[in-house]
Amino acid sequence: MIRFHEDKKVFQLDTTNSTYLLAIVEDEFLAQAYYGEKLAEPITYTLRLDEAPFTPSQNNRDRVSFYDVLPMAYPTHGIGDFREDCLNICSKAGHSVVKLAYQSYEITTGKPKLKGLPATFADDDQAQTLTIKMVDQAIGAEVELAYSVFSDTDAIASSVKVRNASKDTLWLEKILSGCLELPAGQYDMLSLHGSWARERHVERREIGFGYQGVYSKRGSSGHQDHPFIAVLEPNASQASGHVYGMHFVYSGNYMAQVEKNQFDSVRCVMGIHPEDFSFKLEQGETFQAPEMIRVFSATGLDGMTHALHDLYRSHLIRSPYLHQKRPILINNWEATYFDFDADKLLSIAKEASSLGIEMLVMDDGWFGKRTSDNMSLGDWVVTESKFPDGLCGLVDKVNELGMKFGIWFEPEMISPDSDLYRAHPEWAIAVAGSTAGLSRNQYVLDFSREDVVEHIYQKLSKVLHSANIAYVKWDMNRPMADLASANLPADQQGELSHRYILGVYQLQERLITEFPYLLLENCAGGGGRFDPGMLYYSPQIWCSDDTDAIERLAIQEGTALIYPLSTMGAHVSDCPNHTVGRNTPFETRGHVALMGTFGYELDVNRIPDSDKAMIPQQVALYHQYADLIREGRYYRIASFRETHWYDAAMVVSPDQKEALIIYVQVLAKANAKRNKIHLRGLAENMRYAVANENFSALGSTLMRAGLLVNDVHGDFCSRLIHLKSV
Ligand code: GLA
Repeated sequence: MIRFHEDKKVFQLDTTNSTYLLAIVEDEFLAQAYYGEKLAEPITYTLRLDEAPFTPSQNNRDRVSFYDVLPMAYPTHGIGDFREDCLNICSKAGHSVVKLAYQSYEITTGKPKLKGLPATFADDDQAQTLTIKMVDQAIGAEVELAYSVFSDTDAIASSVKVRNASKDTLWLEKILSGCLELPAGQYDMLSLHGSWARERHVERREIGFGYQGVYSKRGSSGHQDHPFIAVLEPNASQASGHVYGMHFVYSGNYMAQVEKNQFDSVRCVMGIHPEDFSFKLEQGETFQAPEMIRVFSATGLDGMTHALHDLYRSHLIRSPYLHQKRPILINNWEATYFDFDADKLLSIAKEASSLGIEMLVMDDGWFGKRTSDNMSLGDWVVTESKFPDGLCGLVDKVNELGMKFGIWFEPEMISPDSDLYRAHPEWAIAVAGSTAGLSRNQYVLDFSREDVVEHIYQKLSKVLHSANIAYVKWDMNRPMADLASANLPADQQGELSHRYILGVYQLQERLITEFPYLLLENCAGGGGRFDPGMLYYSPQIWCSDDTDAIERLAIQEGTALIYPLSTMGAHVSDCPNHTVGRNTPFETRGHVALMGTFGYELDVNRIPDSDKAMIPQQVALYHQYADLIREGRYYRIASFRETHWYDAAMVVSPDQKEALIIYVQVLAKANAKRNKIHLRGLAENMRYAVANENFSALGSTLMRAGLLVNDVHGDFCSRLIHLKSV
């Protein structure tokens, strides 16, 4: 709920468990007076406005030192606040000082859409939005800061819009989406770090003086870092302590920066990376910056996780599959790589369908002359020699087996060896007259161009109309470099990366509008574009090209910290694992994949019989637990990162009558065949029976005294433990 306290000039934004206060100071500035546990009254003393601003000045309210110490709601460039700012606009006169003054506010029900961008949404009775208008009279810029609170989650969504209200051209040089100020103190920063096949590993460190943060300048959110940071009290843990989370609803370049300053206070900012970015605004034009989510939790990481999971399930993912059991798929990538034709796929499908698998996904290699990653991206036409009866011939046969059919595309890419490149070399992102660098032997298509997006849309939609296709895996396999568009004038080249992402969003929007029942799974060389922006279009994203069950523990732990399990693409693959060469039990591979969307990525005709025999059992487990895993509350119980022994997570059904624990003993220990884990999220007074064991206990007992995990022997072995109320 949002209120304006006229007497104190304070906006109070309350979620169920938190309060965010913005104060108008001296009728001009907008300051962040408080963010934290819920307050029953508005306050401003936290701003310490009556104190000298920590400088040896005679005039203790001198402007520059005042700017440099006030906790700002949205700091701007050049005024004398020397901490990291959020907004820098270059005027026609060539200066870039932005001095915003408060103008007006509006509180509305619901939540407005963000034009062309993914964003959280809510019905009128589920959210309220505060829009504050700020103005820089000198350059003629109007800034709207919008903050939305939701009735059912402790998250606040905010965004920024700039309008050129002057008669001259303005250039946005930097427009971040949000700022979070924390009072003097000691804090840790948690980020999700990684690499290809090692995405989103939890990284926690103490915040020291100076800058620290994460960013991507790769054109996508990337494998390496993640558009998310959390700031924690040093003693905050999984289940207790104060945690602030910031998450960016965007899929392109970003930065998230944390700065501890001379007064020990901390400013965090997040938004589109300002490097290689500028945006020209003519008179009357507006720029809408992407949305940022902030969360405060007084109950440790759990509270932040739950707020984000709830927000994304109820207010971000739109797919009709959100609350549906997804078909168990088998993807042929690790089974065949490029070496396949219709017969080979059909033989996999036949065997898979007899084992209970429900959908065949045909991966890379079905189009143009594509026999390796050297060619044909952009030529989205089925290779006739591989499919004598056409795509439809294969799909019909797969459908006759009772299976659905899915297909892989990499729409944003172009191979130099392709008919498309030969016809339109200027459609690739490159500097004219210079040879652009290849990555995976391919260039990036200039998706800032409407003609390019339109062309690719026509090609994709033709394929999708040509057969009964239920699923698309949308891949993106290289970063952007050599930034230049043949289509943009010189003073707009800085718009390329952002316009590119808008083109991607536009195409995905068109696809899911034209094919509303298409199950779209995003992917980028594994999990290189796993972000809230993509979730607006696809309910699931391929988590990582690393399908090893043990590597996946850390990847899925980091991913599940901020994303619902229902979004995490996870498959059982063959051993030795293709990425790390590790052998793990087939059972463990199944248990780990069950904690995501669940599927297979292997050749069912070539795996050991003993493994194959387990598939129907795993399929049965999926059908038994899919609803619980998809809709349940997730709790991280233990991490191998900290135990160096085992890893455990659990999900509890919304009515708390059921729970499922996944326990993986990564490395066995002597004299430790049994282990005790403390559960969370159960109903204190409910009695739970442990499936297949003659044991029951109250929820309070299992949470305080713990649950014994019995007879775990050997490395890489796992248990799935089901609890049901009795
Ligand atoms: C990427 C994806 C893989 C696979 C290959 C195909 O690496 O992450 O799953 O689709 O491309 O080229």
